[in-house]
Amino acid sequence: MTQDLTPKQALIIDCDPGVDDAVGLLLALAAPQLEVLAITTVGGNVPLEKTSRNARIVSAAAGRADVPVFAGAARPLARPPAGAGEFHGAEGLGDETPTEPQTALAEGEAADALIDIVRSRPARTVAVAVMGPMTNLALALRRAPDLVDRLAPVVVMGGARSEGGNITASAEFNIWADPEAAAEVFDSGLKVIAFGLDATHQVRATEARIARIEAIGGEAARLAASTLRFSQRIERQIVGWEAAPLHDPCTVAWLMRPDLFELRPCRIAVETISDLTRGHTAVEFRVEAAAAPHLWAVSADGEGVFDLIARTLEAAA
Ligand code: RIB
Ligand code: CA
Repeated sequence: MTQDLTPKQALIIDCDPGVDDAVGLLLALAAPQLEVLAITTVGGNVPLEKTSRNARIVSAAAGRADVPVFAGAARPLARPPAGAGEFHGAEGLGDETPTEPQTALAEGEAADALIDIVRSRPARTVAVAVMGPMTNLALALRRAPDLVDRLAPVVVMGGARSEGGNITASAEFNIWADPEAAAEVFDSGLKVIAFGLDATHQVRATEARIARIEAIGGEAARLAASTLRFSQRIERQIVGWEAAPLHDPCTVAWLMRPDLFELRPCRIAVETISDLTRGHTAVEFRVEAAAAPHLWAVSADGEGVFDLIARTLEAAA
């Protein structure tokens, strides 16, 4: 059997697990083409203590308790902590009853760990996937502006354009939770590839797709299916949708299979003043491609994303 010598994409995952964060982590940790260097956590769906515990539970389920988990910001840059527990369960992992992980948190704060890891590698060889409020990335950029030229690619789950909002009429949760952090990141000079609701709403956890993951076996697939089942029930109860959208894993799926998504060059501005439209992302496509600071995902192949998740978990089982 020939050894695959394709270089792996080094990756840091910043997250607030969170049921869809958990699927994103399980996908990344099972992906042969990704090298997860670290997981950093932020308060978001549930408080920081729980997101930091949940990240370790998920990495252990993937057989990757060796990946260091650094706790980060407990609250947004300039606002009270947000929460979305109704969509993630009181403990943040749906119906799972969390137990204390065997692995302790890594020493040090998330933003500093992100800076140190990126600086320790050649420029533009470490990617970051942000699956929650952007507080940690904003803090890292404040402390180390050189990350703008070193960190790439930067993939973020956040924002909404044509789909409207999911936490308010005009804002998606991750951006709404810390709009100041999002604005600082989008204005920093970093080139961000943003997966907002316009794309993630095209990636739906249908019954057949969940059943395929349920049939895989092994703890990683079991946990992924459990969180997908929880989302299925909650979305039907609260939103009335038959199939829940799968948000955070789209960031990892793009790193593995960019052909599953269509991106458009754009500028992105964030509302930070108005209470009514707090966290709204003004995504402007009327910009010369060469001058566009960011890319916005306008479409996703939902069947392809779920096939990628299933195949990756099947191969790792
Ligand atoms: O709007 C979806 C985002 O908010 C996802 O990251 C989900 O985990 C929640 O944090
Ligand atoms: Ca999240």
